[in-house]
Amino acid sequence: MAARKSGELSAGREHGSQATRKLDASDPAHFRRALSRFASGVVVVTGIEAGEPVGMTCQSFSSLSLSPPLVLFSAGASSTTLPRLRAAGEICVNVLADDQEWLASQFARTGTDKWRGVDWSPGTHGVPRIAGATLWCEGAITAVHEGGDHLIVVVRVESLLAPLAPSPPLIFHEGSFRVLGDDRGERSRG
Ligand SMILES: Cc1cc2nc3c(=O)[nH]c(=O)nc-3n(C[C@H](O)[C@H](O)[C@H](O)COP(=O)(O)O)c2cc1C
Repeated sequence: MAARKSGELSAGREHGSQATRKLDASDPAHFRRALSRFASGVVVVTGIEAGEPVGMTCQSFSSLSLSPPLVLFSAGASSTTLPRLRAAGEICVNVLADDQEWLASQFARTGTDKWRGVDWSPGTHGVPRIAGATLWCEGAITAVHEGGDHLIVVVRVESLLAPLAPSPPLIFHEGSFRVLGDDRGERSRG
């Protein structure tokens, strides 16, 4: 029998009428692969630190609270950008459009010139707004909590700026960038 590749899900079982696979949450490859079934948008979190723009790609962005208006993202403890964003204090969450896959890749490469060829302008408090994003969400980091090997960053939203004719969002699902198919259209409102 062929050896199972790392990250491959283990043998099937029945759950009701659906064939299922048992996943090993303690295996990081399984965990990563399984959780990749959760589709998300992609953002670049930016700030200005020591006079320089800094930024990192995140898919862990989420709304957190309506009153007060809070959002969150999480960053790996080894991120070199997170300490700089924390020092910046004020940040901008740039929600990427479906033609900005190259930005998602560029801002995910540590130790490189992440800003090469990037069109941006200063927003509130000078934080970088990346041109072409579908939303700019700006605010102040108010709390940072430990979460295993990541840190959960809470941001109080001070400014929301949305283009009147936004491009569709960039989607990340099962390790790939995707775009929303418009052939099936909107099903129903949540
Ligand atoms: C689509 C995508 C989503 C990502 N989401 C996250 C995330 O939510 N949190 C995180 O810490 N890193 C995430 N990363 C990886 C970081 O972008 C990358 O590790 C980081 O930019 C490393 O650079 P740094 O050392 O400058 O922080 C993601 C990468 C990609 C391509």
